[in-house]
Amino acid sequence: MKPEALLFCILSGAHALPWSTLDTTLGGRLKPATPLALPCFTSYSGKPNAVNETSCTTTRENWKMNDLHVSTAGSYMNLQSEMCLSDPVDQCLIDNTISPAPLPAGNTSCNQGSIPSYYIDVTGAGDVVAAFDFARKHRVRLSIKNSGHDFMMRNTGKGSLSLWTHNLQHIAYHPSFTPKGCNASFGAAMTVAAGVDGNTAHEFADAHNSTIIGPYSPSVTVSAGWLMGGGHGVLAPVYGLGVDRVLEFHIVTPDGIERTVNACQDPDLFFALRGGGGGTFGVVLSATHRVEPRIPIVFADIHLPSNISSETALKWVKMLIDESLDWGSAGWGGHVAGTYVTHFNPLPALTADNGTAARAAFRRLTDFALSLGGTSNVNVYPSWLAIWNKFLLPYDALQAGAAGMASSRLLPADIFATEEGRESIIDYLRAAQDLGFNPVNFYTPVTTPFVYQRGQNTSAGSVDRGTSVTPAWYHSLWHLQTIGSMAWNSSYADRLNYLTHLTNATIQAEALAGPTAGSHFNEANPFASGWQESYWGTENYEKLLQIKKKYDPHRLLKCWKCIGFEEEDISSAQFACQGKLQLDVDRAFS
Ligand SMILES: Cc1cc2nc3c(=O)[nH]c(=O)nc-3n(C[C@H](O)[C@H](O)[C@H](O)COP(=O)(O)OP(=O)(O)OC[C@H]3O[C@@H](n4cnc5c(N)ncnc54)[C@H](O)[C@@H]3O)c2cc1C
Ligand SMILES: *[C@@H]1O[C@H](CO)[C@@H](O)[C@H](O)[C@H]1NC(C)=O
Ligand SMILES: *[C@@H]1O[C@H](CO)[C@@H](O)[C@H](O)[C@H]1NC(C)=O
Ligand SMILES: *[C@@H]1O[C@H](CO)[C@@H](O)[C@H](O)[C@H]1NC(C)=O
Ligand SMILES: *[C@@H]1O[C@H](CO)[C@@H](O)[C@H](O)[C@H]1NC(C)=O
Ligand SMILES: *[C@@H]1O[C@H](CO)[C@@H](O)[C@H](O)[C@H]1NC(C)=O
Ligand SMILES: *[C@@H]1O[C@H](CO)[C@@H](O)[C@H](O)[C@H]1NC(C)=O
Ligand SMILES: *[C@@H]1O[C@H](CO)[C@@H](O)[C@H](O)[C@H]1NC(C)=O
Ligand SMILES: *[C@@H]1O[C@H](CO)[C@@H](O)[C@H](O)[C@H]1NC(C)=O
Ligand SMILES: *[C@@H]1O[C@H](CO)[C@@H](O)[C@H](O)[C@H]1NC(C)=O
Repeated sequence: MKPEALLFCILSGAHALPWSTLDTTLGGRLKPATPLALPCFTSYSGKPNAVNETSCTTTRENWKMNDLHVSTAGSYMNLQSEMCLSDPVDQCLIDNTISPAPLPAGNTSCNQGSIPSYYIDVTGAGDVVAAFDFARKHRVRLSIKNSGHDFMMRNTGKGSLSLWTHNLQHIAYHPSFTPKGCNASFGAAMTVAAGVDGNTAHEFADAHNSTIIGPYSPSVTVSAGWLMGGGHGVLAPVYGLGVDRVLEFHIVTPDGIERTVNACQDPDLFFALRGGGGGTFGVVLSATHRVEPRIPIVFADIHLPSNISSETALKWVKMLIDESLDWGSAGWGGHVAGTYVTHFNPLPALTADNGTAARAAFRRLTDFALSLGGTSNVNVYPSWLAIWNKFLLPYDALQAGAAGMASSRLLPADIFATEEGRESIIDYLRAAQDLGFNPVNFYTPVTTPFVYQRGQNTSAGSVDRGTSVTPAWYHSLWHLQTIGSMAWNSSYADRLNYLTHLTNATIQAEALAGPTAGSHFNEANPFASGWQESYWGTENYEKLLQIKKKYDPHRLLKCWKCIGFEEEDISSAQFACQGKLQLDVDRAFS
């Protein structure tokens, strides 16, 4: 027996699954998924483990680096994908508050947490077909990991076989793209494989005199979880969400069929992939996105000093709220926060006058910031990449290794139209402050397709956008967030306390936004209830569920609060790491 086959027998334990047959099918490419920090521990799942000094030192020094977690199959950006939230002992983590991280206490065991048992480094459709066949035959749970950035723990799973799509890296430019089986060209487009990250996509687009609309992070990918969750970015207000712009997917569905999916082929599945969520309808190998020409962009970047009081932060945020509808109508998008505003605008009205009109639009905020010792920069840059390379890239590589979560509510534009509505947002922030969310740390993307949607009406006035995200995206202005995190070594009581507060804030945000609102489920509270309605709206949810049943009749792909997830899954063994906590959070509000 070769050593890996022996390992398969040991790890599969009581289930006695024939992992070695899958390994044979894959030509020896089935690998155990081990925790990133394992080389620092003297024991693993209660058994002795040989410490590897070299590899442990690299991990301790780079624990916060996105790239380390992205390029390791069994590691994730956010710790909740690795820790077993319901059982604090079941994890393999090192201290994320000090760099380099100290060595773990001598007798702590490294435990698997919610990290999958095995993974396949996916090289093409054949690997995915083999995994689906195996899962169907042996009832193995599957999970899909790409960049590993998901906040919602849908990219992982204790006991699962993980399909790791990170190494799918091809990318191509089409001056004029016609989806397969369609007749009309949609103009310039880029086909981007699942593993390609935002930074690579932006550089490639620029090299082809183009701009691609992507996430505001170099390490989030463009064609998988980000896209299928809606895909917002700072230029989305003018150009639409990722799902508004995608033209085609190349996917293997759980029935084992490799498909090219677009408006002309499997249009029901195309609708589902345009907002139904990752990890649900199949394994995406690549997607093709419309691109814009390379264009100048005006960037407004205004910061307060970080030492301001929470009262000053609220005063500042009120000014941001007051300006938001005017900015939104003029095509601005970006971020608003307790200590800053970063906004972008690609429209010629704002880029053609060397920034004069833009500086006027941000004058009040600039004056306020400067009076407190802050900074303001409002200028036109020749391209998206120029702004990206100068202002984002140098600061965004160290976001990994924290157990952060957010709640999300898409705030309808109406709220911003009256003083009463604008005040109600401040009242919400005060209530959130009572729950421990300091307004100084407030952060919210302003990335809804606000100007884009206005150009979408048909002559009859009704719109069929073909997307399955909650329709709330198209009448909202802010993707309001409440953010916070748990300590890497938090006790169960700490976790429950944090999630009870986050859920309380989520319920209050729902009251603020009103019954027509929804949320961005890629950045939502994974423990809030009413998720079906909140993530998709009832009508889309029902359609998505039927499409799920058609393409995945055996429920091979199942993830936390994804389409097809059922109430009874909460207390199932598969979701034990989330289930106990969910039931306890629910109890706090019953
Ligand atoms: C630092 C940071 C910045 C972010 N910035 C933005 C932003 O600007 N805009 C925004 O909209 N969101 C943003 N997000 C949220 C982001 O959209 C989600 O984390 C998203 O789930 C990432 O998708 P992924 O495929 O890269 O990551 P993963 O965590 O690997 O996967 C996410 C989900 O997609 C599934 N999936 C992964 N690969 C595939 C595949 N090949 N086929 C089918 N399903 C797959 C997974 O199973 C999982 O359900 C950010 C997150 C972080 C941590
Ligand atoms: C320790 O890890 C390094 C880097 O991963 C590897 O090259 C080396 O072979 C390992 N050493 C031992 C003794 O396993
Ligand atoms: C580790 O050892 C110390 C000293 O023997 C003991 O107090 C502590 O409880 C042990 N911790 C664990 C996690 O076993
Ligand atoms: C494409 O054009 C052909 C020939 O004009 C026509 O028969 C066919 O229906 C068209 N297909 C689509 C999807 O529009
Ligand atoms: C991009 O534009 C420049 C200047 O207009 C031109 O010289 C170059 O050939 C273009 N590159 C591509 C790949 O189209
Ligand atoms: C554009 O504005 C900047 C100040 O933001 C100034 O330095 C520059 O000279 C201006 N350029 C032109 C052509 O007016
Ligand atoms: C806050 O920082 C600013 C700029 O760095 C400084 O001028 C100011 O004195 C500080 N205020 C307080 C209260 O520390
Ligand atoms: C929610 O928070 C409010 C304060 O904002 C508090 O009065 C209420 O008791 C909390 N509810 C629960 C169930 O914790
Ligand atoms: C689209 O419809 C909305 C809502 O009915 C309306 O406010 C807007 O003016 C319309 N836009 C266009 C371009 O017709
Ligand atoms: C958790 O780790 C922090 C350092 O990051 C430490 O100060 C704290 O005492 C630890 N808590 C527990 C309960 O071990």
